[in-house]
Amino acid sequence: MSTFEELIAANERVEPRDDMPDAYRATLVRQIAQHAHSEIIGMQPEGNWLTRAPSLRRKAILLAKVQDEAGHGLYLYAAAETLGVSREELLDALHAGRQKYSSIFNYPTLSWADIGAIGWLVDGAAIVNQVPLCRCSYGPYARAMVRVCKEESFHQRQGFELLHTLSHGTEAQHAMAQDAVDRWWWPSLMMFGPPDDASTHSAQSMEWGIKRFSNDTLRQRFVDMTVPQAEALGLTLPDPDLRWDEEAETWRHGEIDFTELFEVVKGNGPCNAQRLGHRVQAHEDGAWVREAAAAYARKQAEKGRA
Ligand code: ACO
Repeated sequence: MSTFEELIAANERVEPRDDMPDAYRATLVRQIAQHAHSEIIGMQPEGNWLTRAPSLRRKAILLAKVQDEAGHGLYLYAAAETLGVSREELLDALHAGRQKYSSIFNYPTLSWADIGAIGWLVDGAAIVNQVPLCRCSYGPYARAMVRVCKEESFHQRQGFELLHTLSHGTEAQHAMAQDAVDRWWWPSLMMFGPPDDASTHSAQSMEWGIKRFSNDTLRQRFVDMTVPQAEALGLTLPDPDLRWDEEAETWRHGEIDFTELFEVVKGNGPCNAQRLGHRVQAHEDGAWVREAAAAYARKQAEKGRA
């Protein structure tokens, strides 16, 4: 059997049965748990609009999308469990603030257009970040990402379509779409993490093949992909310094205020307390379901033994 170093050098997958350094395992638990937490906390800003969707069609789409996010959380918790941690431990760490979730879900959804902006920008950024994770060196994480990315692509398209409809609707609808894009653009760029020179984990994670590209590389890829889409939508991006660099064939963006990212990650974003409070409450309210499921499983096991 190949050693860990041989697997990484050959660009092959590391599987749960393989020996791996403790630090590799710890990094994966940290990243996968953070990713899983983001999926389930991410249900809140959109869930907020389920009862106020403007039509039955939009409501059905949003309901399906929010359920997809729960499913992504499940695949990811299951992938983390292959590393020897339990789901309970991970949820405890989230609830106690020992593990993080994405900064982006600490912003409020103020209008219906925010649902479009989340689909187009937030899910768009998620895809750019996650497609390379399909080639992550850890097998269970990489495989979970394949399905997640397919579903995220669908989410991104629905966000684009929603915004396109608003942008080409009445003047008030267009203004609502523009306002949402103005508020979500910069936080979406921050989703990719701190700049490379301030990213504590990137170098090691890239050496191990967990991350395939740096934070800034993926952020730039997202900008290049999104600018032409904004034009197609008839909306502008709130960056007066955005300009096409002919020579480098890339879009140069203005300076990102990373102090905002660091503040949000520290817990000082507009909705941190609300999001975590709601999650803890939902977990406590669901205790009876977990107890009932455990009792049922026990009874089934006893029946099997009888
Ligand atoms: N939100 C919250 N915390 C962040 C963010 C962010 N957007 N970006 C970076 N951080 C944290 C890191 O977790 C790390 O903190 P820690 O050491 O306490 O764990 C610290 O900031 C320094 O950042 P990096 O060294 O760059 O961290 P890392 O190498 O893990 O890169 C990244 C961060 C790019 C987010 C990576 O973890 C990743 O690709 N994760 C998987 C994707 C993911 O989690 N997506 C969730 C949102 S997408 C969605 O659900 C729709």
